Amino acid sequence: MKVVAINGSPRKKGNTALLLKTAMAELEKEGIETEFVQLGGQKVRGCKACMKCFEKKNNRCVIEKDMINDVIAKMNEADGILIGSPTYFANVSTEIKALIDRAGLVVIANGHTLRRKVGGAVVAVRRAGAVPTFDAINKFFLINEMIVPGSVYWNLGVGRAEEEVAEDEEGMLTMKTLGQNMAWLLKCTVGNKG
Ligand SMILES: Cc1cc2nc3c(=O)[nH]c(=O)nc-3n(C[C@H](O)[C@H](O)[C@H](O)COP(=O)(O)O)c2cc1C
Repeated sequence: MKVVAINGSPRKKGNTALLLKTAMAELEKEGIETEFVQLGGQKVRGCKACMKCFEKKNNRCVIEKDMINDVIAKMNEADGILIGSPTYFANVSTEIKALIDRAGLVVIANGHTLRRKVGGAVVAVRRAGAVPTFDAINKFFLINEMIVPGSVYWNLGVGRAEEEVAEDEEGMLTMKTLGQNMAWLLKCTVGNKG
């Protein structure tokens, strides 16, 4: 079993990364392999609305010059997906928005390839706007027929400077519990063809 964790912050050692790694540590404790993918800070294009993915149906976006197709492939191979984003003006980072739009269409064009995978949204925030950010990522999971576990709070951690989120006890507990619930759900569902 494998979970891919996508960091949408350009800060490689920032709050989003720490929150993701906290959830990943719990998954690893349960014997689930994890992979951390750094998307934030990479040059990525937005969707150009060409709809070629619906003609080609090859699990790829026609834009080949950035890493979005690699991330789509990793999501298609994984059993679970963590998407982490900092809150930028009360929404996801640009890189995560590009992933949501382009992967979203490619996944739908190819017959809902993320169907019944387990998804966890992870959000870092200084003060406000985390809930719409959380909502944007969950909407990507839910329109793609994915299954979303809960935690003890909505999955957000509060901090401004890099790794300041470590001081947010409730945020850290939320990520640990998310990792544990994700592991439990993966064990219940992977291999169950329904
Ligand atoms: C462009 C930009 C926009 C931001 N917008 C918000 C915001 O709307 N609300 C908020 O609480 N924090 C906002 N922040 C602060 C970050 O969300 C916060 O510092 C977060 O912990 C950063 O996570 P990171 O360390 O993973 O990058 C913004 C930061 C930047 C750089």
